[in-house]
Amino acid sequence: MQDIDTLTDEAAAERLATLAAEIARHDKLYHGNDAPEISDGDYDALRRENSAIEAKFPHLIRDDSPSNTVGAAVSEAFAKVTHRRPMLSLGNAFNAEDVTDFDERIRRFLSLKADDALVYTAEPKIDGLALSLRYEGGKLVEAATRGDGQVGENVTANARTIKDIPELLSGDGIPDVFEVRGEVYMSHADFAALNARAAEAGSKVFANPRNAAAGSLRQLDSGITASRPLRFFAYGWGDVAAVPAETQYDVIARIGAWGLTINPVMARCDSPAALVEYHQGLEARRADLGYDIDGVVYKVDRLDYQERLGFVSRAPRWAIAHKFPAEIATTVLEGIDIQVGRTGSLTPVAKLRPVTVGGVVVSNATLHNEDYIAGIGGDGQPIRDGVDLRVGDTVQVRRAGDVIPQVVAVDLAKRPDDAEAYGFPDACPQCGSAAVREEGEARRRCVGGLICPAQAVEGLKHYVSRDAADIDGLGAKQVEAFWHDGWVKEIADIYALEANYGDGLQALKNREGWGEKSAQKLFEAIDARRTLSFERFLYALGIRHVGRTTAKMLAGSYLQWDAFETAMLALAGGDEAVRENLIGIDGVGQVLVDTLAAFFGEAHTLDGLARIRAAVTVEDAEAPTMDGVFSGKTVVFTGTLERTSRAEAKARAEALGAKVAGSVSAKTDFVVAGAAAGSKLKKAEVLGVAVLTESQWLEMADA
Ligand code: IVH
Repeated sequence: MQDIDTLTDEAAAERLATLAAEIARHDKLYHGNDAPEISDGDYDALRRENSAIEAKFPHLIRDDSPSNTVGAAVSEAFAKVTHRRPMLSLGNAFNAEDVTDFDERIRRFLSLKADDALVYTAEPKIDGLALSLRYEGGKLVEAATRGDGQVGENVTANARTIKDIPELLSGDGIPDVFEVRGEVYMSHADFAALNARAAEAGSKVFANPRNAAAGSLRQLDSGITASRPLRFFAYGWGDVAAVPAETQYDVIARIGAWGLTINPVMARCDSPAALVEYHQGLEARRADLGYDIDGVVYKVDRLDYQERLGFVSRAPRWAIAHKFPAEIATTVLEGIDIQVGRTGSLTPVAKLRPVTVGGVVVSNATLHNEDYIAGIGGDGQPIRDGVDLRVGDTVQVRRAGDVIPQVVAVDLAKRPDDAEAYGFPDACPQCGSAAVREEGEARRRCVGGLICPAQAVEGLKHYVSRDAADIDGLGAKQVEAFWHDGWVKEIADIYALEANYGDGLQALKNREGWGEKSAQKLFEAIDARRTLSFERFLYALGIRHVGRTTAKMLAGSYLQWDAFETAMLALAGGDEAVRENLIGIDGVGQVLVDTLAAFFGEAHTLDGLARIRAAVTVEDAEAPTMDGVFSGKTVVFTGTLERTSRAEAKARAEALGAKVAGSVSAKTDFVVAGAAAGSKLKKAEVLGVAVLTESQWLEMADA
């Protein structure tokens, strides 16, 4: 592989063409024939080389670029569909001269004179993925992706979930068979919302709307596709029983009249100059369209001309894509800020030296999470070829319409010598509490939910909610209003509401929406909730992973709040016995234990908790009544347990209501005998005590 830095434009274009063909060939061997010729590693290297050249020469990115076909190779998971008419690609024009050449080529081919009329349609080239919809008798019978142009994937069930795609066509003159072709895409707004949801949930974020659309359409579960906001524009047709008009423009209008969505900005132009003018006009409006486009497609309007012009290799002679210059700019990453969301998740934001990208000044870009900075994708795949981002780096910024800009590439040659790898903070910048990353999560979260100002509102709303403290008359809306006005900043402030405001009643009854009676009632309701059950109180604190069931379980196991708090402080201090004891409780896992350790390990949180505890009495919980086989029974463990530790087994038995003894007597109900059990087992046999193997014990404990 030649050094990319020394490539000329021409050599780069040539190499990209070779790579596109090579990668397509290997895709086919791999997916189509199940007979790969090269190793996965070598295949990845080809793709990496392609991406590296594209990053350096974005204006040379090909229409059939392998980066655009990531995941578009025909997968075994979907049934194959052989297109009755191939799905073609388009040649490219990059400037006005290319457009004039296109017009002249066509005139020559058709033997038209310079002053003979030649009309074109012009329309946006949507940056999505092509889909072919087959209607028979006006009913949708099959939807297929482009695949390699000859064979695509059957995605009918998924296509049916897209609201721009009608199940039935309506209107006049619908041919018996009519394949509509068009583009599936995602709008900027929908893409941003989808990614925000994904990031918040810690799942994979999509790099751009096209990837999001492709990923969503190619779901094996059409329920997932249905939950994704996909759209569709019809721009052409494939296999048809009859063509319902004589021009491109009129056929598309008919398709629109039958109920499909067609692009409203399509126009007719009668000269290359008019095409270029349309192109300029659309480029100026590009950011306002609300979806990604990467150029304008020109098509000869008269269908008899299209027929005569035909195809060269895989592209029609009668159409061309006039590309926009890529909206990419180079700037410097000046810093990385960390924002804390309302649920405590930390999001890094790139602070960029302001730069104009596609007509808009950009100075911020989301960096999603720490893996993104490190160059690792959300599902463990490398992004930016694994190159990390460092403050001081010269970076390429890409903006797609009004979508949040992205940092797509790093110019390593320009990396300052003293640029240091970015160390993602392990403390919350808002409150100083630990920021921890759980296994399988993309984001770090601040554990200081009780005291973190960024999380205050959510925490307060949770505290007053029905299953938590459940304070009558103090719902999410009211508590948010109090927080907004600075009356309630943390949970403890709720209980000080009356005291804090001199004559609290006076102050409250003057608030909008409150009167003397309701104010009085609220203070009574708050007083009524100065005593809470262990379970409610624990749940109300809003500790991550401590839902109602878990709170109940912990309360049932520790019984007294003070005992629980003492144990949790020991856990946070690294007490292994407490950890094992917790793990031994049915339903408690590592993640929960780590979360509890983090929560109770935070000094600020403990201060906040102490302030609440000064106002709230926590009732003891009652020992859960057990009616299982081990409830009230005496159990002795002996020998070597192979599947759990002795400590875990003991905790487990206790959680089931058993008493665990060290020696066997007539009072013993069960002996659990592990490997190489000795005298205790013998004694049990002599006394006639029930003996269980480790597996039997676990089976019974699980029941
Ligand atoms: S016409 C025979 N019109 O661009 C004509 N294509 O480079 C083939 N595309 O795979 C396509 N918007 O997915 C046409 N308004 C438009 C388009 C469009 C997007 C895509 C299409 C195709 C690719 C060809």
